[in-house]
Amino acid sequence: MRKYYFDELDSTNNYLKREYLNYSDKSIIIAKKQTNGRGRLNRTWLSSDDLTFSMLFKEETKHLHHMIAPLSVVYALKKSQIDSEIKWPNDVYINGLKVAGILVENIYENQMKYCDIVGIGINFTEKELDTSICLNKFNIFDKEKFLDLVIENYSFLLAMSEKDLVELYKIHSIVLGKNVMHNGAIYLIEDITLNGELVLKNGKDYKFINANEIDIKNSIIR
Ligand code: BTN
Repeated sequence: MRKYYFDELDSTNNYLKREYLNYSDKSIIIAKKQTNGRGRLNRTWLSSDDLTFSMLFKEETKHLHHMIAPLSVVYALKKSQIDSEIKWPNDVYINGLKVAGILVENIYENQMKYCDIVGIGINFTEKELDTSICLNKFNIFDKEKFLDLVIENYSFLLAMSEKDLVELYKIHSIVLGKNVMHNGAIYLIEDITLNGELVLKNGKDYKFINANEIDIKNSIIR
């Protein structure tokens, strides 16, 4: 995995969306600063002094990046003696506060998936959000070292079977077993599929929900 550094980009995901033809498989674009960082569901990723990077995967394989990416951060934190959990679909939380966000995007050519872009943002300094937490609070200041840990885990996880990955993902999930309100009814989150869909259950009624169909943060019943 080769790293490319930039002082400032609009967004490392946007950059790769424009420039993917000029980069090889498993290139990593790292920006010191993003001026237009993006999150899921058209949200903005507010940039302070974060670790922000995007990885490009060009091989036509079916890697479960939506699971590998959060797990690679969870294990990097574990190596730093910090326990964390995955809030579906792929946010990483420490003690109920968000420490990392992930944005997986695909590029299609001739109606075929041509590459995956996996953008990861990890909070290092405090944000003006009381729902987030940063790594400086845990005396972790070295972004480069932390990035290398994430990359190391990513390579390791890429080699794992889908079955094992889903199991690992579920072990670290905070939403499994919780209740959610969806379309006016209460459902139990019974499972998570390989594709990353939630399996919701209400009596005999089952629903498969993807990440664009529910705002999980505001739907979980505490
Ligand atoms: C989310 O929390 O909804 C996902 C946030 C993803 C942020 C990262 S930072 C690097 C990459 N570039 C972006 O514009 N977004 C991702």
